[in-house]
Amino acid sequence: MVNSNINNLFDFSKNPIWFMRQAGRYIEEYNIIKKKFTSFFDMCRDVSAVTEITMMPINKFNFDAGIIFSDILIILEALNIDVEFVPAKGPIVHNKNYDNIFKSKDININYGKLEPVYQSIKEVKSILQTYQKPLIGFSGAPWTVAAYLIEGTITKDLAVVKELAYKDKALMEKIIDVLNELIIEHLSFQIKSGVDLIQIFDTHSNVLDYNLLEKYSVGPIRKICKELKKRHPKTPISYFSKNINYDLKDFFEYIDIISFSSSVRMKKYINILPKKIVFQGNLDPINLLVGGNQMVDEILTIMDDMKEKEFIFNLGHGILPKTPISNVIKCIDVVKSFKSLA
Ligand code: CP3
Repeated sequence: MVNSNINNLFDFSKNPIWFMRQAGRYIEEYNIIKKKFTSFFDMCRDVSAVTEITMMPINKFNFDAGIIFSDILIILEALNIDVEFVPAKGPIVHNKNYDNIFKSKDININYGKLEPVYQSIKEVKSILQTYQKPLIGFSGAPWTVAAYLIEGTITKDLAVVKELAYKDKALMEKIIDVLNELIIEHLSFQIKSGVDLIQIFDTHSNVLDYNLLEKYSVGPIRKICKELKKRHPKTPISYFSKNINYDLKDFFEYIDIISFSSSVRMKKYINILPKKIVFQGNLDPINLLVGGNQMVDEILTIMDDMKEKEFIFNLGHGILPKTPISNVIKCIDVVKSFKSLA
């Protein structure tokens, strides 16, 4: 039995599909809007730009869901920590003061700074409702956000944040606790503003050993999901990570969708994970970029593997900026025209 709320959001008989980072640089119109802003976050704070960008991939490709245009690092603004997006380099967190911020007794979280996100959700929702398509809200998981915060610029193997996790347990625990609270409120505000489901991105949990994985990734996410299910029992939760861990135990109680990366064959997990979990994934974004028969064959393999499962087609990670539009159209076409013989 599938969670009935998900069934209200997606028609599984019609092979639902959306892409992570579906609004982004591979769309020319996005790049045109981007040029009008001096910074990425200025754009994320502009309700009309966010509304237009969020709707862009839906209007262009008729995807089955919208995802609010924002970023997992925007929550750092509520802690007065600046983030800069440098082209071809990725995010840079200006983190010089982070230990002062987290060591202070009264940590000031300014949710007002995130108000444009919630305003944009209300705006997009009023449009999307007429399309009868769900709107997805999201957040990074505490460990993944902490990685950007502490590393400043992500290093190979995340050695900087991992070092802190082993060296200064008290500070690391405090940072994770504060981020947990911030993430719960941010997701809760998004739900109250109208998102129909939420996705939690735990992109960087794959570098953790099994002790730290429980302590800083799975444990905190379990807490977030438990609290959100208490406050918003009807809102489905989707979980994205690059590793799939079978020891999640009661974790699965609180999640409804698993968004798989491309490193696993999802079929293998059908009988391992609880039946109620909807699968989402997992075409390699580089395969989409390359296109051709190779891509079509893999899409058909995924669709065939998932033919008896409640399934949402997606990529294993975000779409890449150089992806040809024609490959996106072809991919959607192959997914939508797949007919299960079962
Ligand atoms: O999916 C969507 O369309 C919604 C928007 C969205 C963005 N970032 C917009 C964005 C979402 C869901 C994210 C999540 C995100 N952001 C994650 C988790 C998913 C993942 O990719 O693992 C992470 C780790 C981030 C942090 C982040 N933001 C990075 C590493 C980068 C730079 C990478 C890059 O592609 O340049 C960003 C910037 C960013 N966030 C862009 C977009 C569209 C590119 C900004 C630009 O237009 O230059």
